Amino acid sequence: MKISFRLLLVLSAFALAPVFTTAQNVEEGKKLFEANCTSCHQVHSEVVGPALKDVDKRRDEAWIIKWVKNSQAVIKSEDPYAVALANKFNNSVMTSFGSLKDAEIKSILAYIKTAPVPAGPTAGGGGGTDSTDVNNGPSGGGNMNNSTMLMILLGLAFVLGLTSILLGRVAASLKGTLYTAQPELAPEEGPGFWDGTFWPWVSRWNKTVATISFMLCFVFLYCYWGFGYANTEIGVQKGYAPAQPINYSHKIHAGQYKIQCQYCHSTVEKSKQASIPSPSTCMNCHVAVQAKDKYAGKISPEIMKIYNAVGYNPETKKYDGPQKPIKWVRIHNLPDFAYFNHSQHVKVGKIACQKCHGDIQNMSVVYQKNTLQMGWCIECHRESKVDMANNKYYEKIHAKYKALGKKEVSVAENGGLDCSKCHY
Ligand code: HEC
Ligand code: HEC
Ligand code: HEC
Ligand code: HEC
Ligand code: HEC
Ligand code: HEC
Repeated sequence: MKISFRLLLVLSAFALAPVFTTAQNVEEGKKLFEANCTSCHQVHSEVVGPALKDVDKRRDEAWIIKWVKNSQAVIKSEDPYAVALANKFNNSVMTSFGSLKDAEIKSILAYIKTAPVPAGPTAGGGGGTDSTDVNNGPSGGGNMNNSTMLMILLGLAFVLGLTSILLGRVAASLKGTLYTAQPELAPEEGPGFWDGTFWPWVSRWNKTVATISFMLCFVFLYCYWGFGYANTEIGVQKGYAPAQPINYSHKIHAGQYKIQCQYCHSTVEKSKQASIPSPSTCMNCHVAVQAKDKYAGKISPEIMKIYNAVGYNPETKKYDGPQKPIKWVRIHNLPDFAYFNHSQHVKVGKIACQKCHGDIQNMSVVYQKNTLQMGWCIECHRESKVDMANNKYYEKIHAKYKALGKKEVSVAENGGLDCSKCHY
């Protein structure tokens, strides 16, 4: 029997097609899962919601699609599985994903089936007390930076220099007394340090005048550096990383679980302030997330601090205790006479948080990355172009510049260097 070569090709294409499309689905599913689900789910461990491994064996595809699109509707329809699940997770509400297409949800399922178990002993744990990257902070965690060290070293050098000069003087006068008493001990006279051989121009000076001039030069340099130091470093909190009342980590929340910055800093696009979230925002997840596996079955003491702040009793599940606000220590802080507006930069200027704050999503403890000094603001205003083309905010000005034949305008040219824009 002779099978034509062409037929063989077609047949093998059919056989291979599912392999290719699955690989593609898994890729797409991974992206969708990371963009939408990882803030609450991991494949292999329970987070805010259940571990999704084998979910396709627990429920059929149609159920899962209905659930993902609107889980509350499934619970309301009194589906016994859904009701039990919601009770198990303290009725924390899963976001509805009405905009995901059936095919996209199927891709997510394809990804879940193939997702590898993460390496390392704390699958999905992270480690709340991990403080290693404080040391990545520009100041090494403490508040002593290079300039401070330099000033201290220079000061020490000065004191040591002075002491050695004084001791030298004492030794010389002691030797003088000794040699007059016993001249045979005196060494043969060679040229001294201040005697013409080395520095002929110094030899014309009196030794004391030379020493004092040398010291005055030193003092002058010290003051000069000291002035520059005071001007640029004192009151500038670059690298400032204070301990916070709760061991809250951006590395876990914004990094590992990819929770959007705006979820917590909710006013950053609307107002001048970015705002720090209230503990009720934390409770959206932490009613259920208690990290018990890390503390031998007990609720994490750090998460207990959130409960104490809102007066929540995890045993009775009631909010009946006294409330105590969490006293976060403020890190970034401009003086009162300077005006800075977040929405102007984030929403209108479309600048990423990281440009000014550094890679917050990798910090276990937040530190100040930039100086926040006037020179820093001005430098960026000189370099940045105003994005006028897709910007309603600037429609009128844009038209004006266009009429003048200008295509690009920097923030500086647009008034970003006017004193009154930043100073009241
Ligand atoms: C805001 C948190 C949150 C997000 C985001 C979220 N889920 Fe959920 N999910 C939950 C919770 C909580 C449950 C447990 C049931 C309940 O309390 O509603 C759950 C349950 C499920 C279940 C049922 C699991 C089981 O064991 O039967 C599936 C399937 C599911 N989620 C899929 C997804 C997918 C897919 C995404 C992303 C497109 C997603 N979830 C995003 C919180 C979330
Ligand atoms: C789950 C909530 C949450 C998320 C998500 C979150 N943050 Fe925060 N953020 C906080 C809390 C709470 C504080 C105060 C405690 C601290 O400084 O660590 C804070 C502090 C900060 C500070 C320092 C504020 C100060 O005092 O000067 C900056 C800057 C910041 N966050 C930026 C970000 C950025 C950028 C992202 C996204 C990559 C982000 N945050 C995501 C909760 C969150
Ligand atoms: C969208 C969900 C979500 C929100 C909102 C959230 N967290 Fe978390 N948080 C988590 C997850 C998930 C973990 C990891 C739990 C684990 O390691 O088992 C976690 C871990 C923690 C831990 C470490 C616990 C430990 O001992 O290991 C602390 C502390 C914490 N969160 C504090 C906060 C604070 C404070 C807020 C509010 C500013 C907040 N969280 C908001 C989901 C959230
Ligand atoms: C152009 C630089 C810049 C960008 C971009 C920026 N910030 Fe800030 N941020 C600052 C400055 C400057 C301060 C200090 C403001 C003050 O003291 O008035 C600050 C302060 C903060 C604070 C402290 C509290 C507060 O409400 O002011 C938080 C939280 C914060 N930023 C979060 C964010 C987040 C989240 C983003 C991104 C969505 C972001 N920032 C983008 C420069 C920036
Ligand atoms: C990373 C770059 C960057 C840094 C750093 C920065 N800015 Fe800006 N700033 C911009 C951009 C871009 C705009 C224009 C936004 C727009 O399209 O309106 C802007 C606009 C402004 C405006 C409005 C100017 C106008 O013409 O209306 C003020 C006020 C301002 N910034 C203040 C500050 C202050 C104060 C600081 C320092 C604490 C600062 N900025 C730091 C990029 C920056
Ligand atoms: C883009 C915003 C911006 C503009 C434009 C700006 N400043 Fe400032 N200025 C600041 C900020 C932020 C500070 C506070 C940080 C610091 O101490 O450097 C400051 C601080 C100062 C100080 C206090 C000096 C010090 O070191 O404490 C003076 C004085 C000052 N500005 C004058 C001016 C004058 C005059 C102009 C106009 C030529 C001007 N500024 C324009 C942002 C700006």
